[in-house]
Amino acid sequence: MSKVTIFGAGYVGVPTGAHFARTHKVTIYDPDIEKINTIRQVIENQSDELHIHEKDLIELLRENHENIFLTSSIEEALKNPEFIFIAVGTPPNEKGRANLKYVCEAAEQIGEHLTNNCIILNKSTVPPGTAYLVQDLISKGLKKDVKFAVGSCPEFLAEGTAVEDLRTPDRIVYGCDDLEALDKITHFFTFLQRRDSLCSMTTLSSELTKYAANAMLATKISFMNSLALLCDTIGANVREVQDGIGRDQRIGSKFLNASMGYGGSCFPKDTQAIAEYALLQEVPLAIIESTIQINNHTTDYFYNKIVEDFQENLENTNFVIWGIGFKARTDDLRESKPVEIARKLMDNGAHVHIYDTVPGALNNFLRENPKYSHRFTLHNDQYEMFSDEIDGLIIGNEHEKFRNPDIDKLTTMRHKYIYDGKNILNNYLIKYLTGLQFQYKSVGKDSVVNGLDKAKLVSFLQDKYMD
Ligand code: UDX
Repeated sequence: MSKVTIFGAGYVGVPTGAHFARTHKVTIYDPDIEKINTIRQVIENQSDELHIHEKDLIELLRENHENIFLTSSIEEALKNPEFIFIAVGTPPNEKGRANLKYVCEAAEQIGEHLTNNCIILNKSTVPPGTAYLVQDLISKGLKKDVKFAVGSCPEFLAEGTAVEDLRTPDRIVYGCDDLEALDKITHFFTFLQRRDSLCSMTTLSSELTKYAANAMLATKISFMNSLALLCDTIGANVREVQDGIGRDQRIGSKFLNASMGYGGSCFPKDTQAIAEYALLQEVPLAIIESTIQINNHTTDYFYNKIVEDFQENLENTNFVIWGIGFKARTDDLRESKPVEIARKLMDNGAHVHIYDTVPGALNNFLRENPKYSHRFTLHNDQYEMFSDEIDGLIIGNEHEKFRNPDIDKLTTMRHKYIYDGKNILNNYLIKYLTGLQFQYKSVGKDSVVNGLDKAKLVSFLQDKYMD
């Protein structure tokens, strides 16, 4: 059992700390005393509300409470830890680069207060090389003669499934150039995870792996999104193509869902950050630059389908959005595509009725959109807003409640448009809806409704491919 301190009680720090506490003594530190008190109240069964929404996290915190210590005092946080994990935010700055302010502040504080030998691992997503910067900052601040090593241990958990991702990860990546420290990190993780999931490497490779993983996943999505646009043009169905390629195990079936674009706190930020980093290193990553551009373009493509249906005039229109979080089961609205669509609609004169299965997502929308307050209404019920004043339903995320809607409750709509931003309705349902005069729009499946124009394709081939 090791003594660990986690810097930062956010989306990464709290689940990671709660998970480590299965077998280690963990101190979760955050200068924000409110966050610390919120976790304490949850652990002590005085509240069921955490500042982050994560399935099974409350149970995990309570289960491991004997090994969890909470503090907002830096002196207490740095009382003899063997490992320190930095899990602070690295939000993008206006140039799309990771802002290292919080990582550097953590390093300076560690330097100032560290009194024992220790291994410091950075969990925050950072440009490769940051560990060396952290090492310098700690060295400069040190008041005592202690031996320390700095490495990287990037986090791959996805929001909403963090607890499960931590329990059964595909791999744990960590890197440190100090081989003695690397052995100790391996030892630390063998108490927690299967040995064959451990993936040790140099510090720089580990830092780059985090960006590479997110950029690869985002690229898979953008690849499918660009094919989706071609599918709509020629009359193929992107879901069928997805199935066809996904069964090739070399390609894999995950992260191939075409959609109105990916969002969230990681993919948009990390693709931007690595593309920018590579440019600054004068090794442009053209594929990742295209991934970003396709993602933005796909959102515009989806939005344009909506406005085209209303001849570019959204004044006095009313839309329902199901799912405002960047994906299902999260209250996180960072870079959320449904939020982007909602704002565009409201900017152009529409009123938006929003429902999400997570009440926190609605609260966050309310807090973050004061300028639009007269243009939206929030709902705790999925159907209560449907009436003969509603012009369209937009499916914003992949929640299963949206896959099989209660159609009877939608039939009052003035204009029966359904815009499936995540392509989640199946062909059978789409055809049924079409029979009830609904018009279904998606990204890459227009042919399910429109069929295909064989004559147009044949004349295209005759024109372009035959001499
Ligand atoms: C992601 C990574 O999955 C995780 O490993 C990393 O550490 C952090 O970034 P997260 O952002 O929480 O996790 O969500 P994820 O489930 O990956 O979805 C991101 C976005 O991609 C969502 O907007 C989602 O709707 C979209 N997406 C996902 C697609 O459009 N198509 C897909 O096939 C999969």
